[in-house]
Amino acid sequence: MKDSFVIKGNIIWSETNKELKSVENGYLVIKDGIVEGVFNTLPDEHKDLDFIDADNDLVVPGLVDLHVHAPQFAFRGTNMDLELMDWLNTYTFPEESKFSDTSYADRVYSYFTDAIKKSATTRMVAFSSLHVEGTLILMDKMEEIGIRSYIGKVNMDRNSPDELREESPEKAAQDTERWLKECVKRGYRYTKPIITPRFVPSCSDELMEKLSKIRKEWRLPVQSHLSENMGEVEFVKELAPWSKFYGDAYDRFGLFGDGCIMAHCVLSGEEEIELMKRNGVFVAHCPESNENIKSGIAPVRKYMDKGINVGLGSDIAGGTTESIFDAAVDAVKVSKLYWRLVDDSIEPLSFADAFYLATKGGGAFFGKVGSFEKGYDGDVLILSDDSIPFPRYLSPTERLERFAYLHGDRTGIKGKWVKGNKVL
Ligand code: GUN
Ligand code: FE
Repeated sequence: MKDSFVIKGNIIWSETNKELKSVENGYLVIKDGIVEGVFNTLPDEHKDLDFIDADNDLVVPGLVDLHVHAPQFAFRGTNMDLELMDWLNTYTFPEESKFSDTSYADRVYSYFTDAIKKSATTRMVAFSSLHVEGTLILMDKMEEIGIRSYIGKVNMDRNSPDELREESPEKAAQDTERWLKECVKRGYRYTKPIITPRFVPSCSDELMEKLSKIRKEWRLPVQSHLSENMGEVEFVKELAPWSKFYGDAYDRFGLFGDGCIMAHCVLSGEEEIELMKRNGVFVAHCPESNENIKSGIAPVRKYMDKGINVGLGSDIAGGTTESIFDAAVDAVKVSKLYWRLVDDSIEPLSFADAFYLATKGGGAFFGKVGSFEKGYDGDVLILSDDSIPFPRYLSPTERLERFAYLHGDRTGIKGKWVKGNKVL
């Protein structure tokens, strides 16, 4: 069977955020795409499976990007001088408006999916732009590379330029339904739609109502942005004066529950945090973006301690890189600044915390994903750190931390499987 195999190597995974588990020179068994277990010696019953010798390499679960903007890929790493609302209006909206041109969309999405294929990411939740055809081009390309993803056609009908604004809530809803029907017709196996109101400043109440109805009818998850930046939060107070807090402006429309991902949550107050917990909302923590567009530092430790679902996001092009290893390291670094500069009662994240967020934390959005516990999907990476030599013994977990800090993923990804399917 193609999706049943054994990998021998130095195996590392998270079960909780407290510690990394590892077995040196161990055996990871995947059967029918599902993890059977990690063993010190290979049990007789698995001896007939295909055998992959990863030798001295590291073997870890695939990483999960819970928040990324695919159409912003081409302009990442430029124009880092403005805060969110000005950054959107000055650079981002003009760039996304170019995706009405399908040949431009084709070119950028080819670069994007090529980078994702070569990265450590095995699962992804992404925004496209508001354009139906462009979104389908992205979905076709994601399907080809075999990564499992949710992709959202963006909805926006206010506070943006004519060339990037839907003409009415009715037209936006019609386009969303046309897109959903086309997704069914194309019969994607790995690529699923997700309802995507861009954020409260971009979506009228009428549009939110229509999206909520579509979400219920089609039983789809939701992604959006929440409490990212001070200017945005103030603007939401003006636009939705009836809301008790930002998250309430989604919740009123049934867009803030189980199966919802909210990116950022840098400035969430206690009531909003309580509602996220109660409703099972996922927080996509995007530390690099929060630095670049000067949003601040999300109190992720606090969210984790409260039992809120948290994963990591690259948030390209607020973030510059698709590397979720980088996002994990950035999450540790900014949490130390938060502890030092904001609140020394909130303990900084360890690397074990961050690796958990990068794998099992974000993976929970997809089900049993992001660990090597029995019954989890067989999402696997083989990582070589040969390009960063070391003169003495390091444990597998020390090597993994070093691999992350020293950007080992740029050259060191030697194999990648998603639910047992080899994709690299
Ligand atoms: N809020 C609404 N749109 C965006 C976006 O494209 N990027 C970020 N970082 N925040 C947003
Ligand atoms: Fe974003």
